[in-house]
Amino acid sequence: MRRRLLLLVVLLLAALVVVAVVRRHEAAGPIPVPANVRSPPRLTRPLGAALDADHARHDPVYLRDFLSTFTSLTPENAMKWAVVEPSRGHFDFGDADALVDFAQRTRRRVRGHTLVWDEQLPGWLADHTWSPADLTKALATHIQTVVARYQGRVESWDVVNEPLDDDGSLTRDVFLRTLGPGYIDLAFRLAHAADPHARLFLNEIAAESPSPKQDALVALVRGLKQRGVPIDGVGLQDHTDAGDYPSQATLERVMRRFTALGLDVEITELDVQVNRGRHVADPLRAQADGYAAAGSACAATPRCTGVTVWGVTDKWSWKQPAGAATLFDVDGRPKPARDALLRALGG
Ligand code: G3I
Repeated sequence: MRRRLLLLVVLLLAALVVVAVVRRHEAAGPIPVPANVRSPPRLTRPLGAALDADHARHDPVYLRDFLSTFTSLTPENAMKWAVVEPSRGHFDFGDADALVDFAQRTRRRVRGHTLVWDEQLPGWLADHTWSPADLTKALATHIQTVVARYQGRVESWDVVNEPLDDDGSLTRDVFLRTLGPGYIDLAFRLAHAADPHARLFLNEIAAESPSPKQDALVALVRGLKQRGVPIDGVGLQDHTDAGDYPSQATLERVMRRFTALGLDVEITELDVQVNRGRHVADPLRAQADGYAAAGSACAATPRCTGVTVWGVTDKWSWKQPAGAATLFDVDGRPKPARDALLRALGG
């Protein structure tokens, strides 16, 4: 009797494992490309969106809005360290592959995001005390494996993301504590070795307006250039608010600081939230103006190589539906911001 019970339990467990494996396989399947979706308008610059593979698989409205508007995509989370290398040396490229394949089938550009960031790190990396040699090895394995896999398919990489604190000092994360500031040089050199044709970016948040952080960012990338580190551009994220967004002039000024160093620039994570910050009389109009300011600044800057919106519809935005930060509302209907951004980019 006992043995039968044991056998039953074992069989049940085996069945659960099979179901989990099948579910996982299905979850990581291809993103469909529906027929009869309008093509995006022709613009003077690539216009991208951060894309999530699961939403693209399961929400047809999200997928349609992406395809009808955007010519470039950035995996929102699928290429982050915790996702692609959850345990040391074991890689899971399910969603990253699905997004890159989808981009190839639909002829979209891909921005890779991101190789080195102190958020969304796996526990084995973040919660460990490293020797410099061992962390260098782990960094090299990670960057070589991820970048080489997408050689020729990922056009540009956010090699290092958000390395600075607001006061302009380098964030004291596991990389800085173990390797010193040279971890940034190292990451760029490793990425360049793995794909010499990919354009390599340093991506920073909240550096659009004049501040100690902006000055520190300029000094940081100037140093990289002087040391011959293979950096091609700076990404300005521009997560902003309808009540307080950087003007076109502010954005053009900061872009000039980087293009003067011989670098490209992009607006990499644009969103303009409403209902959260200061009160504004007509939030959707103000939001459209915020998007237009970013688009116009990029269009007016010859070395601005693209604008990416951080999300497709408000339903799945990291700012939550209440933040209403994207170009499409929760039901996938375009907001005034969509037209404003397209016009600013020459559409
Ligand atoms: O993957 C788990 C899932 O298994 C679980 O069921 C779910 C439950 O909450 O959580 C899922 O992970 C979440 C992940 O997004 C995927 O949805 C994380 O908790 C959540 O923290 C994560 O948030 C992402 C955030 O980066 C992490 O810091 C946002 O989606 C993403 O939009 C945001 O993007 C960043 C850029 O990469 C860098 N710049 C700032 C920008 C906004 O924070």
